[in-house]
Amino acid sequence: MANVNVSLTVNGQQQTVSVDSSETLLWMLRDRLGLTGTKYGCGIEQCRACSVLVNGQLEKACDYDVTSAAGKSVTTIEGLSADLSNKLQQAWITEQVPQCGYCQSGMLMAATALLASTPKPTDAQIDSAINNICACGTYARVRLGIKRAAGML
Ligand code: FES
Ligand code: FES
Repeated sequence: MANVNVSLTVNGQQQTVSVDSSETLLWMLRDRLGLTGTKYGCGIEQCRACSVLVNGQLEKACDYDVTSAAGKSVTTIEGLSADLSNKLQQAWITEQVPQCGYCQSGMLMAATALLASTPKPTDAQIDSAINNICACGTYARVRLGIKRAAGML
């Protein structure tokens, strides 16, 4: 496959990256930009560990064609805040949500997308929106974290 230049915005910074045209957004973020907060889990669109926002929409980076990201704005876990001041990051710390932590970047990106559309989500709305797989079973704490960030606790 040919190398191509892709220009896009990542976490508020304009980037032009030389990529293999068959590459996914996930590997561009991790291997070319060093943004390793976005995780590779299954690679088959099941676990959602690789979740990022593209133009504000939740997307699975493991199946997102990097050339399709051209001209778009991507937000990864590193873009939520550099100093953990983001309200979801703060709530995650208070509620001690992460266990091994591997799935948590994806959880936080899904929670970010949820609160952007639904500022005060019900349990049913949380369960419906958060389809991420967590091998450590943090689902109840994820709910608490989202509610704390939403000012519901
Ligand atoms: S790595 Fe993308 S959904 Fe599992
Ligand atoms: S915290 Fe370990 S997989 Fe979710």
